[in-house]
Amino acid sequence: MSGLFITLEGPEGAGKSTNREFLAERLRAQGVEVLLTREPGGTPLAERIRELLLAPSDEPMAADTELLLVFAARAQHLAQVIRPALARGCVVLCDRFTDATYAYQGGGRGLSEVRIAVLESFVQGDLRPDLTLVFDLPVEVGLARAAARGRLDRFEQEGRAFFEAVRQTYLRRASEEPQRYRILNAAQSLSQVQQDLDAMLAQIVELCRG
Ligand SMILES: Nc1ncnc2c1ncn2[C@@H]1O[C@H](COP(=O)(O)OP(=O)(O)OP(=O)(O)O)[C@@H](O)[C@H]1O
Ligand SMILES: [Mg+2]
Repeated sequence: MSGLFITLEGPEGAGKSTNREFLAERLRAQGVEVLLTREPGGTPLAERIRELLLAPSDEPMAADTELLLVFAARAQHLAQVIRPALARGCVVLCDRFTDATYAYQGGGRGLSEVRIAVLESFVQGDLRPDLTLVFDLPVEVGLARAAARGRLDRFEQEGRAFFEAVRQTYLRRASEEPQRYRILNAAQSLSQVQQDLDAMLAQIVELCRG
Protein backbone atom coordinates (compact mmCIF):
# COMPACT_ATOMS: atom_id res chain seq x y z
CA MET A 1 0.00 0.00 0.00
CA SER A 2 1.29 3.43 -0.84
CA GLY A 3 -0.48 6.72 -0.22
CA LEU A 4 -0.68 9.87 -2.24
CA PHE A 5 1.36 13.01 -1.70
CA ILE A 6 -0.44 16.27 -2.52
CA THR A 7 1.20 19.66 -1.96
CA LEU A 8 -0.31 23.15 -1.90
CA GLU A 9 1.88 25.97 -3.12
CA GLY A 10 1.72 29.68 -3.72
CA PRO A 11 2.82 32.92 -2.08
CA GLU A 12 1.71 34.39 1.25
CA GLY A 13 -1.99 35.07 1.40
CA ALA A 14 -2.82 32.88 -1.60
CA GLY A 15 -5.21 30.75 0.46
CA LYS A 16 -3.17 27.54 0.87
CA SER A 17 -4.07 27.00 4.52
CA THR A 18 -7.72 27.94 4.03
CA ASN A 19 -8.16 25.61 1.07
CA ARG A 20 -6.14 22.81 2.61
CA GLU A 21 -8.84 22.50 5.28
CA PHE A 22 -11.55 22.65 2.65
CA LEU A 23 -9.94 19.96 0.52
CA ALA A 24 -9.32 17.72 3.54
CA GLU A 25 -13.00 17.91 4.49
CA ARG A 26 -14.09 17.10 0.96
CA LEU A 27 -11.73 14.11 0.74
CA ARG A 28 -12.72 12.80 4.17
CA ALA A 29 -16.36 12.98 3.10
CA GLN A 30 -15.39 10.58 0.30
CA GLY A 31 -13.87 8.18 2.83
CA VAL A 32 -10.25 9.10 2.08
CA GLU A 33 -7.84 9.04 5.05
CA VAL A 34 -6.11 12.43 5.03
CA LEU A 35 -3.12 13.72 6.98
CA LEU A 36 -2.67 17.51 7.07
CA THR A 37 0.76 18.98 7.55
CA ARG A 38 2.91 21.94 6.56
CA GLU A 39 6.42 23.14 5.78
CA PRO A 40 8.71 24.35 7.03
CA GLY A 41 7.67 22.38 10.10
CA GLY A 42 5.33 19.47 10.64
CA THR A 43 7.18 17.95 13.64
CA PRO A 44 8.20 19.63 16.92
CA LEU A 45 11.85 19.83 15.89
CA ALA A 46 11.04 21.00 12.37
CA GLU A 47 8.69 23.64 13.81
CA ARG A 48 11.63 24.96 15.84
CA ILE A 49 13.60 25.27 12.61
CA ARG A 50 10.58 27.08 11.12
CA GLU A 51 10.77 29.62 13.92
CA LEU A 52 14.42 30.25 13.07
CA LEU A 53 13.51 30.73 9.42
CA LEU A 54 10.59 33.09 9.95
CA ALA A 55 11.75 35.26 12.85
CA PRO A 56 13.05 38.67 11.79
CA SER A 57 16.57 39.06 13.19
CA ASP A 58 19.32 41.67 13.38
CA GLU A 59 21.84 39.15 12.09
CA PRO A 60 21.22 38.68 8.35
CA MET A 61 20.72 35.01 7.50
CA ALA A 62 23.00 33.87 4.67
CA ALA A 63 21.01 32.46 1.77
CA ASP A 64 22.84 29.11 2.02
CA THR A 65 22.00 28.90 5.73
CA GLU A 66 18.35 29.47 4.86
CA LEU A 67 18.46 26.79 2.18
CA LEU A 68 20.10 24.22 4.46
CA LEU A 69 17.67 24.95 7.32
CA VAL A 70 14.74 24.42 4.94
CA PHE A 71 16.12 21.02 3.91
CA ALA A 72 17.08 20.11 7.49
CA ALA A 73 13.47 20.68 8.55
CA ARG A 74 12.30 18.71 5.51
CA ALA A 75 14.51 15.72 6.33
CA GLN A 76 12.95 15.57 9.80
CA HIS A 77 9.43 15.99 8.46
CA LEU A 78 9.92 13.26 5.88
CA ALA A 79 11.38 10.83 8.41
CA GLN A 80 8.85 11.44 11.19
CA VAL A 81 5.63 12.23 9.36
CA ILE A 82 5.44 12.13 5.58
CA ARG A 83 7.08 8.80 4.74
CA PRO A 84 5.34 6.88 7.56
CA ALA A 85 1.96 8.34 6.54
CA LEU A 86 2.47 7.45 2.89
CA ALA A 87 3.56 3.95 3.91
CA ARG A 88 0.28 3.55 5.83
CA GLY A 89 -1.59 4.49 2.67
CA CYS A 90 -2.64 7.98 3.79
CA VAL A 91 -3.23 10.91 1.52
CA VAL A 92 -0.80 13.57 2.76
CA LEU A 93 -1.90 17.17 2.15
CA CYS A 94 1.13 19.36 2.74
CA ASP A 95 1.05 23.17 2.85
CA ARG A 96 4.28 24.02 0.94
CA PHE A 97 7.09 21.62 0.02
CA THR A 98 10.15 21.68 -2.25
CA ASP A 99 8.48 23.76 -4.96
CA ALA A 100 8.52 26.53 -2.36
CA THR A 101 12.29 26.07 -2.01
CA TYR A 102 12.72 26.54 -5.76
CA ALA A 103 10.41 29.57 -5.64
CA TYR A 104 11.77 31.34 -2.52
CA GLN A 105 15.40 30.28 -2.19
CA GLY A 106 15.84 29.81 -5.96
CA GLY A 107 13.67 32.52 -7.54
CA GLY A 108 13.53 34.90 -4.58
CA ARG A 109 17.08 34.61 -3.21
CA GLY A 110 18.69 33.76 -6.53
CA LEU A 111 20.30 30.47 -5.40
CA SER A 112 21.23 28.00 -8.11
CA GLU A 113 18.47 25.55 -9.01
CA VAL A 114 21.11 22.92 -9.70
CA ARG A 115 22.24 23.10 -6.08
CA ILE A 116 18.65 22.95 -4.87
CA ALA A 117 18.13 19.87 -7.04
CA VAL A 118 21.21 18.22 -5.46
CA LEU A 119 19.76 18.76 -1.97
CA GLU A 120 16.33 17.63 -3.16
CA SER A 121 17.76 14.28 -4.27
CA PHE A 122 19.93 14.01 -1.15
CA VAL A 123 17.01 14.56 1.25
CA GLN A 124 14.12 13.05 -0.69
CA GLY A 125 15.68 10.35 -2.82
CA ASP A 126 13.13 9.99 -5.59
CA LEU A 127 10.11 11.08 -3.55
CA ARG A 128 8.23 13.88 -5.31
CA PRO A 129 4.64 15.07 -4.85
CA ASP A 130 2.06 13.20 -6.91
CA LEU A 131 0.01 16.35 -7.34
CA THR A 132 0.77 20.02 -6.66
CA LEU A 133 -1.91 22.71 -6.50
CA VAL A 134 -0.49 26.15 -7.20
CA PHE A 135 -2.57 29.04 -5.81
CA ASP A 136 -1.61 31.85 -8.14
CA LEU A 137 -2.39 35.52 -7.69
CA PRO A 138 -0.89 38.95 -8.40
CA VAL A 139 1.82 39.86 -5.91
CA GLU A 140 0.05 42.88 -4.48
CA VAL A 141 -3.16 40.96 -3.76
CA GLY A 142 -1.28 38.31 -1.76
CA LEU A 143 0.78 40.88 0.13
CA ALA A 144 -2.34 42.84 1.04
CA ARG A 145 -3.96 39.69 2.46
CA ALA A 146 -0.80 38.82 4.42
CA ALA A 147 -0.48 42.39 5.74
CA ALA A 148 -4.11 42.31 6.92
CA ARG A 149 -3.11 39.44 9.24
CA GLY A 150 -0.70 41.66 11.18
CA ARG A 151 3.04 41.47 11.92
CA LEU A 152 5.14 40.44 8.93
CA ASP A 153 7.56 37.49 9.13
CA ARG A 154 11.10 37.52 7.68
CA PHE A 155 9.87 36.54 4.19
CA GLU A 156 6.84 38.80 4.18
CA GLN A 157 9.20 41.74 4.72
CA GLU A 158 10.73 41.15 1.28
CA GLY A 159 9.95 43.51 -1.59
CA ARG A 160 7.84 43.21 -4.70
CA ALA A 161 10.66 41.91 -6.93
CA PHE A 162 11.24 38.99 -4.58
CA PHE A 163 7.58 37.94 -4.72
CA GLU A 164 7.37 38.48 -8.46
CA ALA A 165 10.29 36.02 -8.83
CA VAL A 166 8.54 33.59 -6.47
CA ARG A 167 5.39 33.75 -8.56
CA GLN A 168 7.19 33.35 -11.89
CA THR A 169 9.15 30.35 -10.57
CA TYR A 170 5.97 28.56 -9.55
CA LEU A 171 4.35 29.27 -12.92
CA ARG A 172 7.42 28.19 -14.87
CA ARG A 173 7.74 24.92 -12.95
CA ALA A 174 4.04 24.20 -13.42
CA SER A 175 4.32 24.78 -17.16
CA GLU A 176 7.34 22.47 -17.39
CA GLU A 177 5.51 19.55 -15.79
CA PRO A 178 1.80 20.10 -16.47
CA GLN A 179 0.79 16.55 -15.51
CA ARG A 180 1.86 17.12 -11.88
CA TYR A 181 0.58 20.68 -11.35
CA ARG A 182 -2.84 22.34 -11.31
CA ILE A 183 -2.91 26.14 -11.25
CA LEU A 184 -5.80 27.81 -9.44
CA ASN A 185 -6.71 31.47 -9.86
CA ALA A 186 -6.44 32.49 -6.20
CA ALA A 187 -7.32 36.14 -6.88
CA GLN A 188 -10.95 35.11 -7.22
CA SER A 189 -13.38 35.07 -4.31
CA LEU A 190 -12.86 32.20 -1.90
CA SER A 191 -16.14 30.60 -2.96
CA GLN A 192 -15.05 30.70 -6.62
CA VAL A 193 -11.67 29.15 -5.76
CA GLN A 194 -13.51 26.41 -3.88
CA GLN A 195 -15.83 25.81 -6.82
CA ASP A 196 -12.71 25.34 -8.95
CA LEU A 197 -11.35 22.87 -6.38
CA ASP A 198 -14.67 21.03 -6.38
CA ALA A 199 -14.43 20.75 -10.14
CA MET A 200 -11.07 18.93 -9.67
CA LEU A 201 -12.31 16.77 -6.84
CA ALA A 202 -13.44 13.73 -8.82
CA GLN A 203 -10.01 13.56 -10.46
CA ILE A 204 -8.23 13.94 -7.10
CA VAL A 205 -10.38 11.25 -5.45
CA GLU A 206 -9.62 8.94 -8.35
CA LEU A 207 -5.87 9.54 -7.81
CA CYS A 208 -6.36 8.85 -4.07
CA ARG A 209 -8.01 5.53 -4.80
CA GLY A 210 -5.18 4.62 -7.16
N1 LIG B 1 -9.94 33.76 -2.39
C1 LIG B 1 -9.83 34.56 -1.32
N2 LIG B 1 -10.39 35.78 -1.32
C2 LIG B 1 -10.24 36.61 -0.26
N3 LIG B 1 -9.58 36.30 0.87
C3 LIG B 1 -9.02 35.09 0.93
C4 LIG B 1 -9.11 34.16 -0.15
N4 LIG B 1 -8.43 33.05 0.20
C5 LIG B 1 -7.96 33.27 1.44
N5 LIG B 1 -8.32 34.49 1.88
C6 LIG B 1 -7.95 35.13 3.15
O1 LIG B 1 -6.61 35.58 3.02
C7 LIG B 1 -5.88 35.32 4.20
C8 LIG B 1 -4.72 34.41 3.89
O2 LIG B 1 -5.21 33.12 3.55
P1 LIG B 1 -4.39 31.82 3.96
O3 LIG B 1 -3.90 31.96 5.36
O4 LIG B 1 -5.19 30.63 3.63
O5 LIG B 1 -3.17 31.97 2.95
P2 LIG B 1 -1.84 31.13 2.87
O6 LIG B 1 -1.62 30.87 1.42
O7 LIG B 1 -1.92 29.98 3.77
O8 LIG B 1 -0.77 32.20 3.37
P3 LIG B 1 0.66 31.93 4.09
O9 LIG B 1 1.59 31.45 3.04
O10 LIG B 1 1.07 33.29 4.57
O11 LIG B 1 0.41 30.93 5.18
C9 LIG B 1 -6.85 34.72 5.20
O12 LIG B 1 -7.32 35.76 6.00
C10 LIG B 1 -7.95 34.16 4.31
O13 LIG B 1 -9.19 34.14 4.97
MG1 LIG C 1 -0.77 29.42 5.40
